[in-house]
Amino acid sequence: HKPLVILGIESSCDDTSAAILKDDTILSNVTASQAIHEQYGGVVPELASRAHQQNIIPVVDAALKKASIQLKDIDLIAFTQGPGLMGSLVVGTAFAKSLSLAINKPMVAVHHMHGHILAHFINEGTPKPHFPFICLTVSGGHTQLVQVNSPVEMIILGSTIDDAAGEAFDKTAKILGFPYPGGPLIDKFAKEGNTTAFIFAKPQVDGYNFSFSGLKTSVLYFIQKEVAKNPNFIAENRADLCASIQATILEILFKQLRKVAKDTGITEIAIAGGVSANSGLRAKLEAEGKEKGWNVYIPKFEYCTDNAAMIAIAGKFLAENNDFADQQISANARLPF
Ligand code: KG4
Ligand code: ZN
Repeated sequence: HKPLVILGIESSCDDTSAAILKDDTILSNVTASQAIHEQYGGVVPELASRAHQQNIIPVVDAALKKASIQLKDIDLIAFTQGPGLMGSLVVGTAFAKSLSLAINKPMVAVHHMHGHILAHFINEGTPKPHFPFICLTVSGGHTQLVQVNSPVEMIILGSTIDDAAGEAFDKTAKILGFPYPGGPLIDKFAKEGNTTAFIFAKPQVDGYNFSFSGLKTSVLYFIQKEVAKNPNFIAENRADLCASIQATILEILFKQLRKVAKDTGITEIAIAGGVSANSGLRAKLEAEGKEKGWNVYIPKFEYCTDNAAMIAIAGKFLAENNDFADQQISANARLPF
């Protein structure tokens, strides 16, 4: 058969990314991250939008070059329609629509969170999850337990009632004085620390939902109290603080994951989203999988945080389902799951 070449475009938050997928193999996956937000302690939407406008053409160009693909070879354009920051989403959406018109090729509109989950189907020579599987999707904006029945049929079983898991990492990191995004730094320092050095609040939440705002408050009050007594408290206890915070976040996640696995009887368990890059989470899922007899699926590092490869593979499934977008489509910051 003639291979299908898909250009994926992702611009929902602060990463501008373009990827070329040929059938189910990634030929290139190029991402421009925006360092500008570090100094503000979070993503500034207006700055993100402007940076996407500057980055989108060079990033697409680089992805094409790296894959040795020309514009005329593209069969399908897959872009992130939402959810995310409106000013960011419109850049990718407008670019995809213009390119679709210019090269006269169809396009598909991808849900960002479906992309994170479907990244598991990129061909890496490793086993892929079998349907139905459970995916714990943990990112900077979302925390969801999803039952994935097929690439186009997914049901949310539980989600956060306040902060996302990534926000729990980033907000507690900010309390410790780390730059944004602090999640990867907590991960790094936690490796040297004792997970039970400090005890932080864990919520009681109904069903399969999550809550992280109590943890954030508990860390804030604890740090304020200790720093008042010893101004060097954070520096002297950095590794133990990070290890204890991370362990609490992971325990909150796993409590609900275990419940879902038990109640559904599903033993195919995957993780996805930016926080699935966390080494503690990856190790805990491996260990728990061995203990419970789960088959666990952990995305390759580069497909955890926002990237266009996951948008391209999700686009492939939409096209197979004949779910194409037309020129009337617009970005949707609150795109329903
Ligand atoms: O999926 P993603 O790139 O963007 C969103 O869609 O939100 O996720 C970004 C989130 C941030 O909160 C970041 O701190 C977190 O993922 N993150 C991590 C790690 N790498 C990224 N959190 C903990 N440990 C990590 N290694
Ligand atoms: Zn994401």
